[in-house]
Amino acid sequence: MLKKNDTPKAVYIPHARLLDPSCDRDEMGALFITADGKIAPVPNPLPPASKLTVIDRPGLTVVPGLCDVHVHFREPGLTEAEDLVSGSAAAANGGFTRVVTMPNTSPATDTPELVRYMRSAQTAVSIYPSACCTTSRAGGACAALESLAEAGAVCFTDDGAMVSNPEVMKVVMLRAKKLNKVVMDHAVRPDIQKGGVIRDCPVAHAFDLPIFPAEAEIEAVRDDIARCRETGCALHIQHLSCAGSVELIREAQKEGLPVTAEVTPHHLALAAEDIPGNDGNWRMNPPLGTREDVKALREGLLDGTLSLFATDHAPHTRLSKSKGFRAAPFGIIGLETAVGISWDVMVRQCGMAPLTWAKYWITNPNKLIGLPPPTLAEGARAELAILALDDEWTVDPEAFASKSADTPWAGATIRGKAIATYRKGHLRQPH
Ligand code: DOR
Ligand code: ZN
Repeated sequence: MLKKNDTPKAVYIPHARLLDPSCDRDEMGALFITADGKIAPVPNPLPPASKLTVIDRPGLTVVPGLCDVHVHFREPGLTEAEDLVSGSAAAANGGFTRVVTMPNTSPATDTPELVRYMRSAQTAVSIYPSACCTTSRAGGACAALESLAEAGAVCFTDDGAMVSNPEVMKVVMLRAKKLNKVVMDHAVRPDIQKGGVIRDCPVAHAFDLPIFPAEAEIEAVRDDIARCRETGCALHIQHLSCAGSVELIREAQKEGLPVTAEVTPHHLALAAEDIPGNDGNWRMNPPLGTREDVKALREGLLDGTLSLFATDHAPHTRLSKSKGFRAAPFGIIGLETAVGISWDVMVRQCGMAPLTWAKYWITNPNKLIGLPPPTLAEGARAELAILALDDEWTVDPEAFASKSADTPWAGATIRGKAIATYRKGHLRQPH
């Protein structure tokens, strides 16, 4: 949390890898932030120790603040699981300085008042709310997109459900296009999902769980691309999970359609066959795919078909998640493990260029919602994250800033994390 009475000090990081996708910079160097929050050349002499915070340890990487275009902060509604303050603290702990909140709140985020409330919240990260495509996310009438955009909604989505009716989706996309806003879709066809909760895998058979077929996503992506072709509106597919969907997006992009897609760290790192048992903390929508799906998602990111990461941070109460696969709600938290998992899988294991990794967390998410991304350039207002990408740590959800604990990585040792963020003149160090 920001402490109001802290007098801001200058910050000096003498040795770090400076990774800045805004100017393709990846080099060792020093970084200095003035007491009033600007990136500046290192002064000589340095300010006195009483007016300076020095962060000096081996293995640091500094990046502009990360942006997550897919988080659920549950306010209003399920604030027992998360609220704007706790969710933002979790985001800042994870190295994020900007987030896009999803509108499946209760009530749904379909009024300008609610959008303004979220937009103006003073929290540890900047909140850029999305708003509903349809009133109450019911899939029927198009929401008041113009006044929602005017109030500060950066994009439209009914996340948690797709807009299944093609006529409604067409109207949504035509109106969003006029506003120059992207429509994001939770591409899952309910008529094909039919109550499925898990992809075909040993745990599905062991516990006789209803299967969630890949076609539920693939056919939804096909439908959405058809609407994109009809309307010319920018389309963004949320949390892609299947090889077949990657191929459809690749083809659509070859055709010149304005289609993008995000991938979550969990869909990149885990497959359905890794699910250890009847544990609700492994249940999410869309579910974990096959090894072939994981491979296709990684390849899609490496060849640029898929061009951003997002967490789909989905907090749920401990009680609701303790009910086993069949009864637990869909969703897992991800903000506080995102840096470590995504760096480990994509950079360490798959050889993604560090600057591409940074583009997928910084440049492209900001571009999607029409914001200039933060930069480490001298003269800029400092908005950045300090990462320790080689640090090994054991995931203890009870130590998270998130109110919830629904993560498949509880107790696992992972490598890489954020150790601080800097934003709006304040250094924030969680640990
Ligand atoms: O797993 C998910 N959880 N997927 C969604 O689309 C919604 C989210 C939630 O709100 O919990
Ligand atoms: Zn979703």
